[in-house]
Amino acid sequence: MKQEELQEIASQLKHPKGEKGIEMANMMNETNINMTRHSIQNLNISNENKILELGHGNAGHLEFLFEQAGNLKYYGLEMSELMFQEARRINRNFVSQKQAFFSLYDGNTIPFEDESFNKIFTVNTIYFWQDPQKLLSEIYRVLKPNGNFCLTFAEESFMKILPFTQFEFELYSTQKAQQLMEKTAFKIIYNETHTEKVKSKTGELVDRAFTTFVLEK
Ligand SMILES: C[S@@+](CC[C@H](N)C(=O)[O-])C[C@H]1O[C@@H](n2cnc3c(N)ncnc32)[C@H](O)[C@@H]1O
Repeated sequence: MKQEELQEIASQLKHPKGEKGIEMANMMNETNINMTRHSIQNLNISNENKILELGHGNAGHLEFLFEQAGNLKYYGLEMSELMFQEARRINRNFVSQKQAFFSLYDGNTIPFEDESFNKIFTVNTIYFWQDPQKLLSEIYRVLKPNGNFCLTFAEESFMKILPFTQFEFELYSTQKAQQLMEKTAFKIIYNETHTEKVKSKTGELVDRAFTTFVLEK
């Protein structure tokens, strides 16, 4: 594949847009669903929780999230206008029932008041954060005391073999993510790494290692 094509894949993953962006979002939701479910399950969601997700893509996973407990409210934040629209379209029933709320933001400042959420999670977005420490302090700010934050990402050891990650991506190993978390006020509860089979761009199955950090305020 040419360098420009690889750069285009990286840009779409960072900020889906146009016709290709919709396709890319469908593919991401499908390929990453196991990681997303894993992040949601580690949140320990209970009835009435208010949950925030950063970078939901097309948010094809909300049915699964709402099955976790009763009377939940979900808030999704995106930087991509296309993902904001797609997520609203796919989840129009949850939106009209006022169970799901979607907004755009700048990727740095979370547009909610202090201590707004019981749970916060994000999957496959840390690679694109402009200022990780600043965003983590924002996540901490909007989380309620004793609330949980789950951060899920694919391990650097796997990601670095994908040719498009040389563009746009900042890759993380467990150790590098841990060092970043230690600079924040969060308490690290645990982290776990799993390996799963995923289809590569060329169609064969490859092993992907991914990690979830569970943090507490
Ligand atoms: C690789 S996709 C992952 C989507 C989905 N979470 C998944 O795992 O399939 C990254 C998504 O995060 C969004 N994004 C990038 N930087 C972000 C940031 N700082 N905060 C929130 N979302 C961000 C992009 O617009 C894109 O939809």
